[in-house]
Amino acid sequence: MEKSSSIEHPVLELIKKRRSIRAFSNEPIAADKICSLFEATRWAPSSSNEQPWVYIYATQEQPELWNKMFECLNEGNKIWVKDAPLLILSLARKEFTTYGSANAHAMYDLGGANSFLSLQAVEMGLQVRQMAGFNHLKAVESFNIPNLYDVGVFIAVGYPGDPDNLPEKLKQRELAPRERFLQQEFVMNKPF
Ligand SMILES: Cc1cc2nc3c(=O)[nH]c(=O)nc-3n(C[C@H](O)[C@H](O)[C@H](O)COP(=O)(O)O)c2cc1C
Repeated sequence: MEKSSSIEHPVLELIKKRRSIRAFSNEPIAADKICSLFEATRWAPSSSNEQPWVYIYATQEQPELWNKMFECLNEGNKIWVKDAPLLILSLARKEFTTYGSANAHAMYDLGGANSFLSLQAVEMGLQVRQMAGFNHLKAVESFNIPNLYDVGVFIAVGYPGDPDNLPEKLKQRELAPRERFLQQEFVMNKPF
């Protein structure tokens, strides 16, 4: 499947600027900015307006809570997450609050909300890296997560830092051009 590094058609400036960085500065994030990140998720669309997302967050100023999150991550992620001033654990409520039946789109909605959060971050000079690389059981136990919730991803948030502070291999990946499939690989104007 063909990929390219260039933007082939005009898109929002925020979309152009967003990237999942690993080199974070340890500069703290002001409390009002953290509120704006979660405010952005409030206004994301969701099936039946259920807003099934739930977030637990910890700043570096809360070392006990922050470390509890950090310890859930895979070793490969710990290498670069260590400087991130804000960690977030995102969850999806599996049942509709109104009907009590299964919400098959809860994780889909959480992904949408996390994208809103990511773009809001960029607007404020921050960047986000989402992580599926974590110990699921440890996350459930450490945060006492009820069975009603599915664990989505952990999210590292911070201001961009100096890639020179990353180990050489990660530095190279940080500075490498980003590639994407061309639209012809995934957009169809006809049935399969
Ligand atoms: C669901 C999900 C899980 C991810 N898990 C990890 C992870 O565990 N570790 C990591 O370094 N990056 C992770 N990423 C970041 C992706 O690698 C990244 O989004 C992808 O390479 C595209 O780069 P970009 O976000 O800069 O466009 C994850 C992203 C998503 C959306």
